[in-house]
Amino acid sequence: MKLKTSRSAAALSAIALLALAAGCSKSATGSGSASTPKASASAVTLSGTITFNQDNLAKLDAALKVAMAGKSLSPVDIAMVVNVAADYWKAGQVGFLKGCSDLGIATSKCTYFAPPNGKLTEQDSELETLRSQGITGYSISAIDPASAKGTIHTDVQHGVAVLAIDSPLPGTDAASLYLGTPNYTAGFQAGTAMKQVLGGKGKVAILVGSLTASNATQRIAGFEAALKGTSITVAQKVNDNLQASTATSDAETILANNPDVNGLYGVYSYDGPALAQAVTSAGKTATVHIISDDSDAQTLGFIQSGVISGTVVQMPYEQGYTGAYILAAEKVLGQAATMNIVKPYLSSDGSTLSSGVGLITKSDLSDYQSLEAKLGIG
Ligand code: BGC
Repeated sequence: MKLKTSRSAAALSAIALLALAAGCSKSATGSGSASTPKASASAVTLSGTITFNQDNLAKLDAALKVAMAGKSLSPVDIAMVVNVAADYWKAGQVGFLKGCSDLGIATSKCTYFAPPNGKLTEQDSELETLRSQGITGYSISAIDPASAKGTIHTDVQHGVAVLAIDSPLPGTDAASLYLGTPNYTAGFQAGTAMKQVLGGKGKVAILVGSLTASNATQRIAGFEAALKGTSITVAQKVNDNLQASTATSDAETILANNPDVNGLYGVYSYDGPALAQAVTSAGKTATVHIISDDSDAQTLGFIQSGVISGTVVQMPYEQGYTGAYILAAEKVLGQAATMNIVKPYLSSDGSTLSSGVGLITKSDLSDYQSLEAKLGIG
């Protein structure tokens, strides 16, 4: 089967990358624009860790498929609703549609939606449309978990499956299962990398697309936990409300007003490039260090040139792919039977189905790009 081939190839690559990351590291050298590297402030060794969860997820997908064998999937009508139209989600969309096609679900029964401007009204109105069309389940990265609580409750009462992806939904009827990166761990990895590149002292600012979505709060909590006991302080956390253009102007303002800031953490995918551009145009690539999240093409370019020292990645492809399987199974097998199959694959918190977490540095870059190419998301 095509899927199995590509996923196991990806898993093999991840193992190879892990070995590579363990055995080799490289100084985060270079600064300037993405295309014109120059020497950076300090020669700091960061090594990547690539520990995605493809192997386990592929086993889960197979188990779900076996359980659904012989049952009609024609009633399945599912959607993947993310929080903003951003490069980051292209891989998630590819994964979702591939999951649907591997299950034999018609494209017309698999809707992908990304709010063009990252607005709650856009997300809510699409959900209303999907409900009126008789959707049987949806995965969601909720822009506002508090306001989603009531509608999720109503949906679940009506037998609509709701799966939290990318950002957990504690305290809601979708709390029992979250498919995505372990966000606290992701933040902790970012904080650990920051600690390394700053040599344990400095002042850091954080840029983020939300201060209420749990993926953001958990990543920031993990980041701050990793800095405990060091002489690094977090000077500010700035919310760009999922707007890349706001992130760019926020980054410029932070640099202009805080000459002592020497570390920047970009929590959402577009924050890394925004920070890298601002640091480059301020002429501070030699003194200000950046750790980001995700692997937008621009981010990888700045990793290559050394302007970004490391980026934490979370495999949204898997959130789309396995999300399609779970939502289909919830309709065909029911919630309890689906959860019985999912349970053995959960993390120790009992609700997280991890898509993995890794740190990409310059030394891992080309191998990571090969992995992306294999998944068709590069
Ligand atoms: C987050 C997503 C967000 C994306 C923005 C990612 O880091 O996990 O919630 O949509 O950044 O581009």
